[in-house]
Amino acid sequence: MPESEGGKYGYFDDARREYVILRPDTPTPWINYLGQEDYFAMISNTGGGYSFYRDARFRRITRYRYHGVPLDQPGRYVYVRDAESGQYWGATWQPVKRPPEFYECRHGLGYTIITTRYSGIESQVTYFVPLGQTLEVWRLKITNRRDRPAKLQLFSYVEFCLWDALDDMTNFQRNLSLAEVEVEGSAIYHKTGYRERRNHFAFFACSERIAGFDTSRDEFLGSYKSLENPIVVEEGRSRNSIVSGWYPIGSHQVNLELAPGESREAIFLLGYAENPQDEKFEAPNKINKSRVRKVIEEFTRPSRVDEAFEQLKQYWGRLLSILQVETPDEHVNRMVNIWNQYQCMATFNLSRSASFYESGISRGIGFRDSNQDILGFVHMIPERARERILDLAATQLPDGSCYHQYQPITKRGNKEIGSGFNDDPLWLVLSVAAYIKETGDYSILDEIVPYDNTPGTEEPLYKHLEKSFQYILERLGPHGLPLIGHADWNDCLNLNVFSTSPDESFQTAPDRTDGKTAESVFIAGLFVLAAKEMAAIAERIGRKSDAEKYRRLADEMAKRVLEHGWDGEWFLRAYDAFGRKVGSRECEEGKIFIEPQGICVMAGIGLDNGYTVKALDSVYKYLATPHGIKLHHPAYTRYYINLGEIGTYPPGYKENASIFCHTNPWIMIAETIVGRGDRAFDYYKRICPSVREAISHIHRCEPYVYAQMIAGPEAPRYGEAKNSWLTGTAAWSLVAITQWILGVRPHYDGLLIDPCIPSDWPGFKVTRWFRGAKYVIEVRNEERVCKGVKQIYVDGVPIEGNIVPAFSDGRTHHVLVIMGRK
Ligand code: BGC
Ligand code: NOJ
Repeated sequence: MPESEGGKYGYFDDARREYVILRPDTPTPWINYLGQEDYFAMISNTGGGYSFYRDARFRRITRYRYHGVPLDQPGRYVYVRDAESGQYWGATWQPVKRPPEFYECRHGLGYTIITTRYSGIESQVTYFVPLGQTLEVWRLKITNRRDRPAKLQLFSYVEFCLWDALDDMTNFQRNLSLAEVEVEGSAIYHKTGYRERRNHFAFFACSERIAGFDTSRDEFLGSYKSLENPIVVEEGRSRNSIVSGWYPIGSHQVNLELAPGESREAIFLLGYAENPQDEKFEAPNKINKSRVRKVIEEFTRPSRVDEAFEQLKQYWGRLLSILQVETPDEHVNRMVNIWNQYQCMATFNLSRSASFYESGISRGIGFRDSNQDILGFVHMIPERARERILDLAATQLPDGSCYHQYQPITKRGNKEIGSGFNDDPLWLVLSVAAYIKETGDYSILDEIVPYDNTPGTEEPLYKHLEKSFQYILERLGPHGLPLIGHADWNDCLNLNVFSTSPDESFQTAPDRTDGKTAESVFIAGLFVLAAKEMAAIAERIGRKSDAEKYRRLADEMAKRVLEHGWDGEWFLRAYDAFGRKVGSRECEEGKIFIEPQGICVMAGIGLDNGYTVKALDSVYKYLATPHGIKLHHPAYTRYYINLGEIGTYPPGYKENASIFCHTNPWIMIAETIVGRGDRAFDYYKRICPSVREAISHIHRCEPYVYAQMIAGPEAPRYGEAKNSWLTGTAAWSLVAITQWILGVRPHYDGLLIDPCIPSDWPGFKVTRWFRGAKYVIEVRNEERVCKGVKQIYVDGVPIEGNIVPAFSDGRTHHVLVIMGRK
């Protein structure tokens, strides 16, 4: 096993598709996501984290104390106690934190395995959520590495949440009188609320005959004690407590005797179950457990657990095999083939709702976020992307605006945040375009979808897209550019809020100005990009006049950007409510912003007159740092009331000029559009987690996934990442590296191949399943160019141009791409 070295805390085991952490005290909890569809769990490298069913706010199964002390508790714990010496420890280090003789955490795809050894007793816990189940398995294997027998006691531990995570941490006068449980055999049932309106409950079961149990946290811990030294574990004796109100937990006691070298297993299951309304009870106030008993019986069998674990591995193997690359760069190979795609699944599933930084309470499924997440996910499970697109479209309002977020359980738009983020509607066009390009399935446009989930308002999805444009066109400002509304992609550029009250949230504060004149160049760029896609779609479904209309709209908007959105060396960011420029050399601070440079180049604005290259050179000059490209320059050093939340952050953090990673791939893509593959790839590496692994002591977040931000040069903690996992960076990075740098890009008419790579690359390979055929693509770059395709051969036959047809014949096709100057 390689030693961790330098700034690292572990290493990548690419063959097993795992990241291996070698010490428990990582700078932040390094987490993994378990569960792929309905039941989700987050687990840190020491077993911390929480679980929920579909909705992290309304169906929270276990508690987590965000920014609690000690850090990262509670979690999924198993205490191990030596019955002879009375010594005890945590099988995952936490919550006892005794120094281990050995520690290793392997985060894999949908599972985590934590191994520790204390006093010659080795334990290994494998955590995962079987496919199609609403439960998590903790499989514990315990081995006696001593040369004498060991008498051990195990104590499991979970702390239940009273379902509504917000109420659970605010409404104590009520909820401390609610908790109810049942215990039957080795299974503990948490049933708070079940006697009234809930038809769901949680269970915590164990494969072994138990020597005792606890369901009361107070009794388990003992008076004024903590998870570090619970009285039950200290004394080695469960209290068989049945909680009533207060704090419900689940804990089993299992006694074991192990001969030298002997191993034993215990399987714990934590799960969620629902009963039909009329079959809730098997006796007065007793949960009907008929279904759950079967599930428990099934998944406490080691052979069934083996099988489920194997199925999970195969599932990921299959998903990842859709897109695999072989390049001269190990970071690209590792990120694309494993971690970047894996992160795209997590962001697709959870949007920005539940992570170690998103509490799962205040934010549901984001409209713009999820539409962008689809760009990095659609090739994996297009059917799920399709369903999500239709759910999102159903939260569009009749005027074309969209709820900024919705709750996954109800799929209804969140009223508190409402709509008015004027970029939102356009992202729907991009996700639909990506879906069609991937699948060739135009029928999605005919799907009948309601507005605001209101029956009777249904129209085809195509109409929804039209409404998206209409919404923008009905809201143009003095320069003919789109009004920004509450904010655009940059949530913190609130040009209409003018907040003076510290008690007000910028995100939900009303827009104050009457004139509402603030305009966004970013939305203008996004409009052009989306209108071009719309034209391409309309063209292909025979709506020629629509196609013309959207081409014309794109041209007109692009002209206005060139006229009113160009600052001389770069694209302007916006006009504020008073018509003053934002992101201009005239500004004292915030002279240049990254977003309009990225989006306008992607939209092809200024390609003919050299503005694109100029804008990108300005990005390089003013915004690029060794840790990535920052959001704007210079950072705001004070609060500007006309700009909103952006100035509330100290310089270098978050939207105030951090390296807000989401935007970096836009610049990578833009660089490939102008043909600068060396620079595009250089930017790719600056934020690439696997590259940054070497400076984990500075980066501090997980080295296998992108984080939302990296502190910018103006911040004292420059280079430090924050808010890992749920970020649009995942989807956009995958798109940038695979579709634009490697250049293998789904197109309406086939698979387009147009690489823009570092000039010293001799070539690379991509394997891609696309519309039901497999493409094995070999790119040769003998002339060492960045960009330019000389000739493509498909199955040995030269083709015209660089779009490989969609054969959809279930076969493998060999594509040879010769790069070079024509
Ligand atoms: C954050 C943004 C976020 C917004 C909405 C702001 O405080 O800085 O990144 O998008 O809140 O939750
Ligand atoms: C995070 C939000 O989820 C996303 O929608 C937004 O674009 C960025 N922050 C930038 O403000």
